[in-house]
Amino acid sequence: METIFSGIQPSGTLTLGNYLGAMKQFVELQEDYDCYFCIVDEHAITVPQDRLKLRENIRSLAALYLASGIDPDKATLFIQSEVSAHTQLGWIMQTQSYIGELERMTQFKDKSAGKEGVSSALLTYPPLMAADILLYNTNLVPVGNDQKQHLELTRDLAERFNRKYNAIFTVPEVKISEVGARIMSLQEPTKKMSKSDENQKATIYMLDEPKKIIKKIKSAVTDSEGVVRFDPTDKPGVSNLLTILSSATNTPIKDLEQQYAGVGYGQFKQDVADAVVNVLEPIQQRYSDIITSDTLDEVLDQGRDAASRVADKTLAKAKKAMGLGRVRKSK
Ligand code: TYM
Repeated sequence: METIFSGIQPSGTLTLGNYLGAMKQFVELQEDYDCYFCIVDEHAITVPQDRLKLRENIRSLAALYLASGIDPDKATLFIQSEVSAHTQLGWIMQTQSYIGELERMTQFKDKSAGKEGVSSALLTYPPLMAADILLYNTNLVPVGNDQKQHLELTRDLAERFNRKYNAIFTVPEVKISEVGARIMSLQEPTKKMSKSDENQKATIYMLDEPKKIIKKIKSAVTDSEGVVRFDPTDKPGVSNLLTILSSATNTPIKDLEQQYAGVGYGQFKQDVADAVVNVLEPIQQRYSDIITSDTLDEVLDQGRDAASRVADKTLAKAKKAMGLGRVRKSK
């Protein structure tokens, strides 16, 4: 069976973008792959975090994974900082990364632009991400579009290491879903929907109450043409809503365009809102049960142990390939 790895940062409440671009795929893929899903808290601390809030976000993300349908009998769910091989291989991957290629990462450029006191870990974020993936002999990495560049770098680093030392890493492929890989802001539909958007109306959070979801979608920016047509260049707002509806209902965009011929934006927005509520409401109900239960800790303990077993083996191979540590002299 092939292996999948993916991670989500516990840096705030997840958005509809995280769900449609990543989590939704994870739930489908766990049926056919050996899956590792990670709460990447060590990535989250590349920017300042409040200690108590971070701890709460880690737990909340674990509960959201389960509430969205990740089944601990099928997939391994764990917290990155509880498997120490991640930072250790992360360091090794830093030794294989060039400063120039890290400085070219668009996520680094976006997150560091105009800021003072940018941490060096923000620059070395991608080698840690490569380590996450490579530790599990991963074949496939399901992510949203914004992570594509990091995946290309991961492949380069794996190939570079394999060539220089020993061919121990599986070179992973990226898996980006056809619809939903780039959900845009509801207020500025030319930029991606993000956890950290200051405009609360721009982002749907997975734990937003239905009333709030409906309000946000009804006030989403569209255009004055009045035609429901997919055209991301000229009609980014309507196209984003079509993408959301398509992904939430598993209906091709082409079919939706036909279905909404002659229908006004008012009705269209109402239907998008209903579809999103239909997807998120059951998740929210399961979430409120899970977050207060003891099973969460059991799942995360088992996940940590299962992940460590695989990760430690790969780390040992990488260390040996580079000549780190020692080999015992046999008596
Ligand atoms: P993060 O936490 O920003 O996002 C988690 C996942 O959600 C996807 N995503 C989106 N998809 C569609 N539309 C959007 N608006 C949107 N916003 C976010 C992301 O592409 C991602 O798949 N670096 C990663 C976390 C990470 C990781 C890894 C991922 C660390 N190690 C190893 C895969 C494998 C990140 O910051 O994702």
